[in-house]
Amino acid sequence: MSIRSGLGSGLGYDMRQAHARIVELATLAPSVRNSQPWHWVSDGESLDLRADRSRVLRAGDEDGRMLTLSCGAGLDHALVAARALGFEVEAHRFPRSDDPDLLARLRLHPGVVPATATADLQALTDRRTDRRRFTSWPVSFDQLQDLAAVASARGATAIPVVDLADRVRIDLLLGRAGDRQARAQARLGARGFRSPFADTPYVAPDRDLEPADGLLVLGGPPDADGPATWLRVGEALSALWLEATRAGLSIVPLSVVCEVAETRAVLQHEVLGGLMTPQTLVRVGWQAIGRPRRTPRRPLDDVLDLRSPGA
Ligand SMILES: Cc1cc2nc3c(=O)[nH]c(=O)nc-3n(C[C@H](O)[C@H](O)[C@H](O)COP(=O)(O)O)c2cc1C
Repeated sequence: MSIRSGLGSGLGYDMRQAHARIVELATLAPSVRNSQPWHWVSDGESLDLRADRSRVLRAGDEDGRMLTLSCGAGLDHALVAARALGFEVEAHRFPRSDDPDLLARLRLHPGVVPATATADLQALTDRRTDRRRFTSWPVSFDQLQDLAAVASARGATAIPVVDLADRVRIDLLLGRAGDRQARAQARLGARGFRSPFADTPYVAPDRDLEPADGLLVLGGPPDADGPATWLRVGEALSALWLEATRAGLSIVPLSVVCEVAETRAVLQHEVLGGLMTPQTLVRVGWQAIGRPRRTPRRPLDDVLDLRSPGA
């Protein structure tokens, strides 16, 4: 289906068809190790996002932090898609206290197609993790702050890291976290989650930050470190990434430092002075022309249950 098809006022849509189109676009979201740990359920009235815990990474994500961040990115992609297709969206996060895996429930109402619809849909389909080394053209502090503002608007905190000493410490922490995680993965062996897309390349944590690389820490308030924060930060990560894509900037997450409890605590208390609970780092830069191929996605039937109302 072309990215423009289905653009309208939100009226004249069969709601189940609209849900399917929105989920199709939401599956383009980034996810940790391309694990795609989401499950969507439509009854023709509401569209539910559920965490798929069978896809959790057992080395480095025992508590489901990265899984929930990834689902947050999927949720933001769904919201962007729905609005671009001409819907207003009512979104309830964690709508049932007895069902923690139900992360969000969306209801769509006919609305108007925003002027940004085409650019928004284009950003969803253009976004990639491009791990090539960035060019040496620096990312300005203003650009980093603009991206940080996008994250704040989604209820998260994002702090640019420009101080040289902090960047060196973060580089060291990345190396330490990578070693810890490699040992944990080796201990777990085949019991660790094996993504069917395991050939997805990954930034080696020991690759040094280049002086021109922009660096942002994303997280939540100092006293909040649970699923509600993780979901919000995932949404903010997606929003920031889509904004960067529109501006021609490239984003590469460096999450390992927040996956390992010890390095996450050092980052929080010794580098960030306890100002926030860090959930991921992202490198920001300008890429040479060209874009990597899109990474594979699970088929729509695997990630979406289309049910009859009341079923
Ligand atoms: C929460 C989260 C953490 C991630 N951490 C890393 C990382 O540490 N290193 C990396 O190279 N990519 C990381 N990624 C990017 C994913 O590997 C990437 O989104 C996935 O492979 C799909 O590819 P795509 O982004 O090109 O669609 C992360 C993505 C998310 C959502």
